[in-house]
Amino acid sequence: SNPSLLILPGDGIGPEVMAEVRKIIDWFGAKRGIAFDVSEDLVGGCAYDKHGTPLHDDTMAKAQEVDAVLLGAVGGPKYDVLDFSVKPERGLLRLRKEMDLYANLRPAQCFDALADFSSLKKDVVAGLDIMIVRELTSGIYFGEPRGIIEEGNERVGINTQRYTESEIDRVARSAFELAMKRGKKLCSMEKANVMESGILWREVVTEVGKEYPEVELSHMYADAGAMQLCRAPKQFDVIVTDNLFGDLLSDAAAMLTGSLGMLPSASLGKPMANGRPKALYEPVHGSAPDIAGQGKANPCACILSFAMALRYSFDLGAEADRLEAAVEKVLADGVRTADLLNEEGRTPASTTEMGDAVVAALDAS
Ligand code: NAI
Ligand code: MG
Repeated sequence: SNPSLLILPGDGIGPEVMAEVRKIIDWFGAKRGIAFDVSEDLVGGCAYDKHGTPLHDDTMAKAQEVDAVLLGAVGGPKYDVLDFSVKPERGLLRLRKEMDLYANLRPAQCFDALADFSSLKKDVVAGLDIMIVRELTSGIYFGEPRGIIEEGNERVGINTQRYTESEIDRVARSAFELAMKRGKKLCSMEKANVMESGILWREVVTEVGKEYPEVELSHMYADAGAMQLCRAPKQFDVIVTDNLFGDLLSDAAAMLTGSLGMLPSASLGKPMANGRPKALYEPVHGSAPDIAGQGKANPCACILSFAMALRYSFDLGAEADRLEAAVEKVLADGVRTADLLNEEGRTPASTTEMGDAVVAALDAS
């Protein structure tokens, strides 16, 4: 049977950018003979409007069955007043939690045509292509004890960094597998100099590394890693780190590359019966209420998220390369949505024009 894909466009610009991805999915079916069984459903505010919950149980069940889920974005001012338990974000959190997606992949890739857009010098970032793997389901955001307690005559805020061996082992494995598909270089970041969880992290990653002798493993303290990411990011290929450090390092790495409208992500879980991981792909950006409904959104982050799905869920690495090259060509040709323009007087491309240009570049590939 065909590979299956569940599409959850969500709110705000989510449906706008997803409409462009649909064109690309159709292109792969028509021109490359790669057909997907695509189903579509609601998540976030639109699901709340229809069902009174940001993620219906039926949608959750469907997400567990398919080969991959592709999500747009959720949220918007209309839903800010809702109770915490039914906020749009809860739909996304439920997906991540119940699918047990413990490895968050955040590529930082700098297309040559956008090197001027980076906050760093052009030669530092041109051609940059690194991947940060952030542990997503454990660590200090979840560890117990936590809370604000009274102690003597003042309050104390408490969070606990806690990692089990198996939690470190599984995310390390995801990172090594990824490194095998890329440049066979992995850098693990923690603070083993001051944290017990960091010492264990380093031990377990080293142990898993013995099963991947082809991958060149190195270790770096996360603070030094942050510095190296800004100084010479091209020294890295894959970076693996915990939830908190990964949150910071991946946001910093994002700024090496330019616009939020260009950044894809993947969240991976345990291997399924077919050997591929459970997976959710989504752009890093949110629902962008300030530009929603105006045809201004850059669809590239969502398109590149689909490229990641081709590579990591469907084993179609060459097709993923083809799609990424098409995006690169469109940028090099100067087709730009408003977020990718800083000169006065140039007319930006609309969301649809950008999507059509990628399809045309695919045609020419
Ligand atoms: P945002 O990412 O939606 O927007 C930040 C800024 O970047 C805005 O100025 C927006 O116009 C711009 N932007 C974002 N994506 C763009 C694109 N594809 N093309 C061009 N410009 C783009 O973050 P913000 O404003 O903090 O949050 C807005 C809503 O989105 C909130 O309700 C928030 O909760 C939700 N959100 C949802 C996320 C998700 O679904 N994963 C992630 C982040 C925020
Ligand atoms: Mg963050």
